Amino acid sequence: MQEQEKLLSKDFQKEDEKEYQLRPQTFENYIGQDALKENLKIFIASAKKRRQPLDHVLLFGPPGLGKTTLAGIIAKELGCNLRGTSGPVIEKQGDLAAILTSLEPGQVLFIDEIHRMSRVIEEVLYSAMEDFTLDIMIGQGPSARTIKLDLPRFTLIGATTRTGLISSPLRERFGIPLHFDYYQPEELKEIIMRSAEILDAQIMDKAALELAGRSRGTPRIANRLLKRALDFAVVKTDSVITFEIVQETLSRLDIDEMGLDKMDKRILTQIIENHQGGPVGIGTIAATISEEVDTIEEVVEPYLLKIGFLKRTPRGRVATPKAYAYLGISLETNEKISWLDSSL
Ligand SMILES: Nc1ncnc2c1ncn2[C@@H]1O[C@H](COP(=O)(O)OP(=O)(O)OP(=O)(O)O)[C@@H](O)[C@H]1O
Ligand SMILES: [Mg+2]
Repeated sequence: MQEQEKLLSKDFQKEDEKEYQLRPQTFENYIGQDALKENLKIFIASAKKRRQPLDHVLLFGPPGLGKTTLAGIIAKELGCNLRGTSGPVIEKQGDLAAILTSLEPGQVLFIDEIHRMSRVIEEVLYSAMEDFTLDIMIGQGPSARTIKLDLPRFTLIGATTRTGLISSPLRERFGIPLHFDYYQPEELKEIIMRSAEILDAQIMDKAALELAGRSRGTPRIANRLLKRALDFAVVKTDSVITFEIVQETLSRLDIDEMGLDKMDKRILTQIIENHQGGPVGIGTIAATISEEVDTIEEVVEPYLLKIGFLKRTPRGRVATPKAYAYLGISLETNEKISWLDSSL
């Protein structure tokens, strides 16, 4: 039992109080992702009307865009508790079997980082998702046999930051695949205003928009930068977050006008300076800047791809002319453009 407790709700245990407070609990407070939200509302209403469990939902998208938050809202709308676990903590088929057999009818099971579940464990999910049965192997060798266990009808919500790593048999068993996109500055501004209110912080309109524009389209980053700006405002001024405070905070945190930080710039500079703009393999990039390949692929790269600074090709990553222009490096000579020289 203790073992099982460890597997469940991991995602929610690690959160601190404030993070929890900022997490929207209803569709009304969940800002942006409008198309996705509207469709979901229909699917949920229909499932409730038909008294059927909601079809399984797969949430795809970069970190911090609101996948876990949305899973919580879906469970709440369906009127049940969310049981949460994540791919890497399920080590054995038996772990997953224990979770599945302990679900209540209609309950929502949330598996975060579902792409990190091993293929053997994943196979347990196939019949569970499709027929609500569990095939359990008893014994070993020639005398081994499988027995079928009936499971309660449940809804699985899977979340993944890596679309490419979900196997197709698993992906195909989700009736409702939902893709998250980066948020627009206006939406992030709304999220920042809402969070400021919860944190009891006063923020100027222009300051909120500036923070929004530098948050890489990501609510989690927007909330984090808001808290740091609040720190500066409290210590340095009369606690009001002004445009100037935001500028100072971000410059101290080494975040530039586009929301890029040192790591983004190091990656782009490496590709341009050491590899003539690419193509260069992700492993090589990771090694030269001493970072994990996974971190680059999951956290850093998606935004650089989104804003068109980086391109993925079969032979590796390529820095685009846009990235050259942004870093002030000449596409022809591969050298830093000296504005003094060019004006002569
Ligand atoms: N649509 C939204 N409206 C308001 N706040 C949001 C929204 N989406 C996310 N947030 C805020 O951003 C934080 C991060 O969201 P969440 O943890 O759901 O992201 P995630 O996609 O699950 O990230 P990860 O892939 O890292 O698990 C939440 O705590 C919440 O405060
Ligand atoms: Mg999450």
